[in-house]
Amino acid sequence: MNVERSAWRVPRLRAVGVAHPPLLLAPMAGYTNAPTRRIAHRFGAAWSYTEMAHATGLIHASDRTWQLLETFADEGPVVAHLYGTDPAAFAEAARRIAASGRFMGIDINAGCPAPKITRSGAGATLLRAPAHVGRIVAAIRAVCDLPVTVKTRLGLHPGHLACFDLLQAVQDHGAAALAIHGRYASQGHAGPVDLAQVAALRERASIPIIGNGGIRDVAAARRFLDATGVGALMLGQGAIGNPWIFQELAAGLTESPAEAPCPQRSLDERRAAIHEHLAAEVEFQERLARKYPHARDKLTPEYAAVIGFRVHFFNYLRGLRGVAQARGQLNALQTLGQVYALVDTCLAREAEFRARRRQVTKVETG
Ligand SMILES: Cc1cc2nc3c(=O)[nH]c(=O)nc-3n(C[C@H](O)[C@H](O)[C@H](O)COP(=O)(O)O)c2cc1C
Repeated sequence: MNVERSAWRVPRLRAVGVAHPPLLLAPMAGYTNAPTRRIAHRFGAAWSYTEMAHATGLIHASDRTWQLLETFADEGPVVAHLYGTDPAAFAEAARRIAASGRFMGIDINAGCPAPKITRSGAGATLLRAPAHVGRIVAAIRAVCDLPVTVKTRLGLHPGHLACFDLLQAVQDHGAAALAIHGRYASQGHAGPVDLAQVAALRERASIPIIGNGGIRDVAAARRFLDATGVGALMLGQGAIGNPWIFQELAAGLTESPAEAPCPQRSLDERRAAIHEHLAAEVEFQERLARKYPHARDKLTPEYAAVIGFRVHFFNYLRGLRGVAQARGQLNALQTLGQVYALVDTCLAREAEFRARRRQVTKVETG
C-alpha cells in the first residue's frame, strides 16, 4: 500500500477539501485488530493504529507478535504501533515493517500505564526519558523512510508534566507528528482531559499534534478542537462498539449543531454492524490459522472469532435495556449461531420495552 506522505501534513488535508480534521482510530490492545479497523475505516476513520506490538518480539520472528500486525487489504491506511525501549530493536522492527509495504507509518508507544509494559521501562516510563524517545525516533528514521510518530500522555501524574520535553526531543529528531492523550498516566483511561495543556503543547509544536482523550460525541469533539486547535482527533473508547461515531463527527463538525445527525442507532443497524464485525473476525481468524499454524491455540477459526468478539459484544448493545441478563451467557458461546441468537434475544427485549412504552404513552395521552 502506498499511502501519501502528505497525509501527515494534517493542516493541508483541509486545504484539499476535507472540511473537518482527520478522525483516527486510537491503538487499543485487545480491540483494534484488522476487523475493528476495517469497520472503523468504512464508517470514516481516516487512518488507524494496530494493537501494540513489542519491537524486540518482532525481530525475534515471534509469530505471536507478528499476528498483531496482520492487516486486511481493504481496511484503509494503518500505522504500526510499537512498544519497547531499545532503539536498535525499534529500528530493526521498523525496517521489517517497512519492507512489508503495508503501513503508512511507525508509532512509538510512550504512554501506556499498564505495569507489565512500564516495568520494563517501556510505555509511560518513557515519559521519564524524553531524550531516549528522541533516540528511538532517530534510530528508526536512520533505517526506514516511513513517517515516525509518537503517542504519549501529559506526564506520569499531575506533579510530573513531561510532554513538552518529549515534544522537543522527538521533533528535533524528525518525528512526523505527536499524538497527545490529554491525561496523565496515573489517570488510566478515565477522568478529566486537560485541554489547556494540550493547547499549550500545540502552540509549542512545529509538527502536527493529534488530540486524544474523552471524545465521545460531537460536542466533545468541538470542545477539543476549539480549545486546542489540534490538527486531528483520535478516538478510543468512544469508537468501541460504535463505528458510527466517525460518520457522526464528520457530519457534526461540518454542519451547524442543529443539523447534526441524531446519534441514536436503530436496532437493525446494530444487528447489521455486529454481523459485519463478526464475519470479519472469522475471516481474520481463518487467515491467521493459515498463516501462523504453529503459533495458535487449537481453536477453530469460528470459536476464536467468537472469543475475540466477546469484548465488543456489550459495547454494540450499549444503552439497551435488559441486556444485563445476557452477561452470564456470553462466555459460554462457541458458535456464530449462538452469538446471533443472543443478539436477537437482546434486541427483541429492547423492542418489547419500546413497544410497551409507546402503548403507555398512547393510553396516557389518549
Ligand atoms: C482497552 C484499551 C486498550 C488500550 N491500548 C493502548 C495501546 O496499546 N497503546 C496506546 O498508546 N494506548 C492504548 N490505549 C489508550 C487509547 O489509545 C486512548 O489513548 C485512551 O483510551 C484515551 O482516549 P479515549 O478517551 O478516547 O478512550 C488503550 C485504551 C483502552 C481503553
